[in-house]
Amino acid sequence: MRHLPHLKDLSSAEIKDILQRASTIKQSPAEYRSLLAAHSLAMLFQKTSTRTRVSFEVAMTELGGHGVYVDWTTSNFVLSGIEHETEYLSRNVSGIMARLLHHSDLQKIMGASQVPVINGCDEKFHPCQALTDVLTMMEHFDGDIANASIAYVGIQNNVSNSMAIICDKLGIDLRLGTPPADDNGESRDADVDAIIDRRGYHTADPREAVDGADFVYTDTWIDMQYFNNPDHKEENDAKLKKMMPYQLSRSLIGDADVRIMHDMPIHDGFEIETELVRDPRSVIYLQAENRLHAQKGLLWWLFEQADLVGK
Ligand code: CP
Repeated sequence: MRHLPHLKDLSSAEIKDILQRASTIKQSPAEYRSLLAAHSLAMLFQKTSTRTRVSFEVAMTELGGHGVYVDWTTSNFVLSGIEHETEYLSRNVSGIMARLLHHSDLQKIMGASQVPVINGCDEKFHPCQALTDVLTMMEHFDGDIANASIAYVGIQNNVSNSMAIICDKLGIDLRLGTPPADDNGESRDADVDAIIDRRGYHTADPREAVDGADFVYTDTWIDMQYFNNPDHKEENDAKLKKMMPYQLSRSLIGDADVRIMHDMPIHDGFEIETELVRDPRSVIYLQAENRLHAQKGLLWWLFEQADLVGK
């Protein structure tokens, strides 16, 4: 059975197929109101979310199905074995989307599930975000997306890992303008490291990264579970200081003809200068809206792979 733990196992044709389905439904949503009729998606969350939860739940509703929110801490996932709870879930739903702290737990869920599993973001990968990002780029780029260039400035993490994978698959020019010796922390992945080395994606100079790019992109410097955690205050403060030269700012991009992206949530004044969020060049809210459309394309494709919907 096909799952979506990351984008490594998808061919470029499959990625384009998902994006095409997303675009098709976005253009004619009324024609797909019954696509997933009588199907349910369990949406399991160990961490906070706005976009991932809302977009998957609304996607299921608008495709004629149903999204079931399962909070890790108030369900029996918190006290039983992850495999037992997953096996049960998969006997009542057609798919599972999980946002987890650890990719190793996603692998346990995939091992125990009888239905397709989607990674809704863990410490290493955020595949649904990368699909959304390229869908957004395609809408704001004239011509073949393989001719586009995107500069990701900030910190290497689950979002930049997924961008590296999808850009490698689709031949998009990616520049990762991130600190030298950025060891990626818990998000580090050997396959992503190999892509970055092979493609020469990395530069420690954010100005070199953004020079001539069609898109500039940033993400929070501190993972959501640590942002407001008083136990991480010292570490967070040190990281914010180290990262300020990598802020996406007016000084960095000047008047360049570029589209500004951020996957949200935004931490104003840290990874992005507040004024840039609503700059005329910003596509940030369109990008966030596209989570809904990308989820629909993905659900259609993945459920079809599992013979849950007709071809
Ligand atoms: N970009 C993203 O995944 O948003 P949420 O954390 O709000 O789901």
